[in-house]
Amino acid sequence: MYPLRRNRRLRNSLAIRSLVRETHITPDDFLVPLFVVEGKGIKEEIASMPNYYRLSLDLLGKEAKELWSLGLKSVLLFVKVPDALKDNQGTEALNAKGLMQRAVQTVKNACPELLVMTDVALDPYSSYGHDGIVENGIILNDETAEVLAEMSVSHAKAGADFVAPSDMMDGRILTIREALEDEGFLQTGIMSYSAKYASAFYGPFRDALDSAPGFGDKKTYQMDPSNRFEAIKETEMDIDEGADIVMVKPGLCYLDIVREIRNEVDIPVAVYQVSGEYAMLKAAAEKGWLDHDTVMMEQLIAMKRAGANIIASYFAKDVAKLIDGYA
Ligand code: PBG
Repeated sequence: MYPLRRNRRLRNSLAIRSLVRETHITPDDFLVPLFVVEGKGIKEEIASMPNYYRLSLDLLGKEAKELWSLGLKSVLLFVKVPDALKDNQGTEALNAKGLMQRAVQTVKNACPELLVMTDVALDPYSSYGHDGIVENGIILNDETAEVLAEMSVSHAKAGADFVAPSDMMDGRILTIREALEDEGFLQTGIMSYSAKYASAFYGPFRDALDSAPGFGDKKTYQMDPSNRFEAIKETEMDIDEGADIVMVKPGLCYLDIVREIRNEVDIPVAVYQVSGEYAMLKAAAEKGWLDHDTVMMEQLIAMKRAGANIIASYFAKDVAKLIDGYA
């Protein structure tokens, strides 16, 4: 008899497709990155990230409330630091009245229930645009980890729920965890950028924060895109050192790594759909070459299907607004 199994039976209508769909995107999936600047009334569009903005603190509170009303309950804060405050040690990162610390307070005051995560790395504060302290052209590891631990404590004091070290120094999760414990921040989480690759997809983000490295590249600390085993090793080590959530970054080109890590570990796995991924789709859509919303959803579904439990994405707001109508 001709096929007993006709797979198309499960695809014939919107209703049956909905019934058998394995992967769903909801606002619960997202972590929303936000860029913060000094000033008042500032909402500057980032040239290489159309429809994404740097916000001053007065507008940040409003944004937090809007996100919450859309069902987006977690943010990841990044700050653009004035050049005059940058140095090699990232001194400004530890300022209790610094932009990040005030940003955390602003979001918490506006919307206390919103989960606040902070970026922990020196690049926005570094006169060299590197994630660590530089000596003779080398990025120092242990000295940097110490500063990152102090920075994390400072963010926790300001009210951050989670710190998110994005620097890829060795041993920094343990250094941060011990510092948080010592200072009594027993409930502060760590989301580690555990498998972060040296990717050219970070270009637009570095425009957003004016944080491109002043010399060389980040290949002595971020991972080689060719490597797979190393991602598992990095992730397992970060978990041993006390990470609560691990992350793979970038997203789309690294979904094999997401799947592998999801199969390997027993804590939540995040993926970061980075600025270059956002820029690519915006540019193609602007030219009329790709359908924005459909491609956006397809990419995010792919990330979740690959095993990501959390997606950091500049599309989060677009998705939250679109989601009800999506079939
Ligand atoms: C810096 C940091 C980067 C991103 C997040 N944190 C850039 C880099 O490592 O140079 C990239 C995010 C994006 O491209 O969206 N520690």
